[in-house]
Amino acid sequence: MSSKSVSTLLVEDNPGDRRLIREMLAEVSSITFDVQYADRLQAAIEYLGQNKVEVILLDLGLPDSQGLETLRKIYAQVPELPIVVLTGLNDEMIGVQAVNEGAQDYLIKGQVDTHLLRRTIRYAIERKQAEQRERRLQLQLNLSSRLASLGLMVEGIAHEINNPLTSVIGFAQMLAYADIPDDAREDAKRVSENAQRVADIMKNLLTFARQQKLRRTYINANDLMEATLEMRAHPLDDSNITVTTQLDSTLPSTMADAALLQQAFLNLIVNAETEMRLAHGRGNLLIMTEQKSDMIQVSFTDDGPGIAPANLIHLFDPFFSTRGVGQGTGLGLSVCYGIVTEHNGRIDVRSQLGKGSVFTVQLPVVAEEIYAEAG
Ligand SMILES: Nc1ncnc2c1ncn2[C@@H]1O[C@H](COP(=O)(O)OP(=O)(O)O)[C@@H](O)[C@H]1O
Ligand SMILES: [Mg+2]
Repeated sequence: MSSKSVSTLLVEDNPGDRRLIREMLAEVSSITFDVQYADRLQAAIEYLGQNKVEVILLDLGLPDSQGLETLRKIYAQVPELPIVVLTGLNDEMIGVQAVNEGAQDYLIKGQVDTHLLRRTIRYAIERKQAEQRERRLQLQLNLSSRLASLGLMVEGIAHEINNPLTSVIGFAQMLAYADIPDDAREDAKRVSENAQRVADIMKNLLTFARQQKLRRTYINANDLMEATLEMRAHPLDDSNITVTTQLDSTLPSTMADAALLQQAFLNLIVNAETEMRLAHGRGNLLIMTEQKSDMIQVSFTDDGPGIAPANLIHLFDPFFSTRGVGQGTGLGLSVCYGIVTEHNGRIDVRSQLGKGSVFTVQLPVVAEEIYAEAG
């Protein structure tokens, strides 16, 4: 909000009120406002769908919507934006109700001066940002404690299943080489193959539960990313995905398990690719690396279908998948989560339905350590 101008949407059908507010916001001061206006609810909703707005000034009485309903409709569209409601002299109560229903503040028309208007807008933006930060923190806290307890359960199940499973695979393989009729041999092979699939699932579950031992070496995430993209070049091309990379050439190296990290990168790339292909038959994937204080940040931005808010909190849960049966196991992101957390890093997702998703991985920069070879 500092030096640049604040993009403001003024939703107001009365030309007189509109002019007054515009003039107040046009006065020269430390903050400048870029004011656009809409005179109907429908026009406002359309504008918000296509433009980046930082704050909304909302008159509740519009030709196509009246009262709190106006606020509810705008709020449903952009719950993340601060809204300041403009009410008439006689309906201050509505202003109070509006605040209860998600508006940041209200102003009474005719009792607004430049100073109050600007201060209200500034506080509305700052409060909303603080609220959002708080909410994100709370969500993350809930998420990581839930995933930690899921991890414990998964670990228990996996250990119980692995021993009998190893013997199923072993005996089925032995049987397949024994002197038995051919049709029985086929059956034994089928048992062995399917048991192997279960073993693969178990391995992914153990990675999620952070039971995978890391083999750290000193690596650079840029090199790893380039190698991963090369591996995936053909399928990406077949899916009409344009990949753009912005790899920070000054990115520090760090101690990490190259194979596991590559698996995490690959899972994120494949997910973006699959979602964009299924939704649009094409897409753009932007991959960026940069240093953020003492962390290496790798982000994957796609213009795919986005993720419904209700799904966001389940995304990293083992077996959560929106794809049809046989299309996905729902373990890709769980594995990413396990790998990144085991590296003392973080993985986050932001998404807007219909616009796309951003997955961000942060890894600590760890100075090179030389491990003495055993033996
Ligand atoms: N880039 C993305 N865009 C939209 N949705 C995604 C994206 N990545 C993951 N998802 C959602 O997260 C779900 C879980 O992903 P994942 O754990 O990799 O399992 P799977 O790919 O087997 O479904 C997917 O089914 C999909 O709904
Ligand atoms: Mg996947």
